[in-house]
Amino acid sequence: MQSTAGSESANNGMPENGVTPWLGSQIQKVLDSIYAKYKDVDDGVVATYIPELGKADPKKFGICLATVEGEVFTAGDWDTEFTIQSMCKPFAFQLALERHGSEKTLKHVGVEPSGEAFNSIEFDQKTGRPFNPMVNAGAIAVSSLIKQKPVEAGVDAFLETMGKAAGRKLRIDESVLASETLTGNRNRAIAYMLLNSGIIDEEVHESLHQYFAQCSMLVNCRDLAMMAATMANIGNQPETGERVFDFQLIKYVMAVMFSCGLYDYAGNWAFEVGVPAKSGVSGGIFACVNRQLGVGVYSPKLDAQGNSVRGILACKELASHLGMHAFDFSNVGSSFMQWLL
Ligand code: DON
Repeated sequence: MQSTAGSESANNGMPENGVTPWLGSQIQKVLDSIYAKYKDVDDGVVATYIPELGKADPKKFGICLATVEGEVFTAGDWDTEFTIQSMCKPFAFQLALERHGSEKTLKHVGVEPSGEAFNSIEFDQKTGRPFNPMVNAGAIAVSSLIKQKPVEAGVDAFLETMGKAAGRKLRIDESVLASETLTGNRNRAIAYMLLNSGIIDEEVHESLHQYFAQCSMLVNCRDLAMMAATMANIGNQPETGERVFDFQLIKYVMAVMFSCGLYDYAGNWAFEVGVPAKSGVSGGIFACVNRQLGVGVYSPKLDAQGNSVRGILACKELASHLGMHAFDFSNVGSSFMQWLL
């Protein structure tokens, strides 16, 4: 059933440093109109290469916007859960940077856009490194850097940090994890190539388990928007105020999302939407507007590049209505919302 749309805030719609009630109602109107405009778009196909993903309801469409002050605006099926899939990759990269620093991390993964599909089997010719942490090869290298002993400890640590960013406890969808593990032969091939070139250690099974489990974590649009807002809020969770991510490293993750977050659509995305973002084959997309807000959208039907059809449409429209593009004349940093007044 479709859930109700609406806005929430910590202080009866009138937080001290947040948007005014008038502006809040304008943002809610924008979300409602985007939902109404695109809810009947039926293009694209639900991913089935992981059989469990094929069970998603193609009608679902949710949108959530969370400001860095902790105000939340929602439309449609914002509370439907789906697996995070590739949207786990920027967060895993952040954790690798936090654990090992950038110098060591970059010995295992590059930061160059590949312009290729997420599952491409291509490596830097000289170093053998995967091109970036957003393609599967790079994400598997990153998973090998953040795994722990026993392997479940690394998965739990990831879940805990992501739960802090989302503002609620998160869990793994065990059926998707089993389906992904069973059918993930291409990822296994990639992992063994990474072992062969010395990019990951011999605990290949553990690195893959870390990666598959991360991809199988359940979230909804609100979780994604909050995680994105936590990134946008230089690592502090907007609702709890808790420091979740090291703020000095976020710029690196944002930069890689900006240039590589949507694979072979990344250039078009930077051109049209113009903010760091990440998509996943479950049909989710999250986007960060630095120091301002996070967006989470979900709709499981995908285009030829594996990005959510309605998700892309919704993000483009949101960006144009709210002046989100990093280089939009109306985006004047943290005060862009005042510009709308
Ligand atoms: O590696 C895979 O096949 C998936 N678990 C993640 C893929 C994904 O979400 C690609 N993104 N668009």
